[in-house]
Amino acid sequence: MTASPRLERIVEITASELNERLGEALALYVTAMNYPPATVEQRAPMWLAHMMREDWRCVVALGEHDELVGIGYGYRGAAGQWWHEQVRRGLMQVSPPAVVDSWLTDYFELTELHVLPRAQGRGLGEELLRRLLEGVRSSCVLLSTPEGPSKAWKLYRRVGFEDVLRHYQFTGDPRPFAVLGRKLPV
Ligand SMILES: CC(C)(COP(=O)(O)OP(=O)(O)OC[C@H]1O[C@@H](n2cnc3c(N)ncnc32)[C@H](O)[C@@H]1OP(=O)(O)O)[C@@H](O)C(=O)NCCC(=O)NCCS
Repeated sequence: MTASPRLERIVEITASELNERLGEALALYVTAMNYPPATVEQRAPMWLAHMMREDWRCVVALGEHDELVGIGYGYRGAAGQWWHEQVRRGLMQVSPPAVVDSWLTDYFELTELHVLPRAQGRGLGEELLRRLLEGVRSSCVLLSTPEGPSKAWKLYRRVGFEDVLRHYQFTGDPRPFAVLGRKLPV
């Protein structure tokens, strides 16, 4: 028996295209993360601000009827950004300055990657991730994810992400996180 062809299309979209579908994209995000629906209102201004950042890139998976099934985006990280400063603080505690700089000087922050539960487990997350990173010109990529095991962990390890920081607590979130990274290109 041969595998049936995938129905979803993966395409890169512009910031204004995401803006037009922001409600749908955030609904996908809260569904995938299993967050309360009110999270949408907190996240909307954050996602809009991210779109303005240098080298922002977004890829989406579109279903049969052009509905959003998956999304991934990120941008070039820089000093002064909240996530950058949090990671720097954590890394400085466990790594020599040369290691801190090797990760934080020229990186793409993979900010979001989500696939609707009904479409998970068919390789869509990996394809979104690879397509997103294909167009990145930074020398490495960094991300944070709650400590595993999870589908996200399995995916990041499969694509070659290594530990940068483990069991780290970001300000305001009690969950332990891992910061993972890998050199580019994939
Ligand atoms: C993390 C997430 C994006 C991964 O998406 P996904 O589409 O399920 O993941 P993958 O692309 O890695 O799917 C791979 C699985 O599909 C299977 N698969 C089937 N066909 C495949 C193909 N052609 N290519 C690759 N994998 C395929 C693999 O065997 C693998 O199965 P396994 O996980 O049991 O080993 C998704 O699970 C998600 O949205 N989770 C909730 C939100 C989240 O945690 N986001 C990350 C925050 S940091």
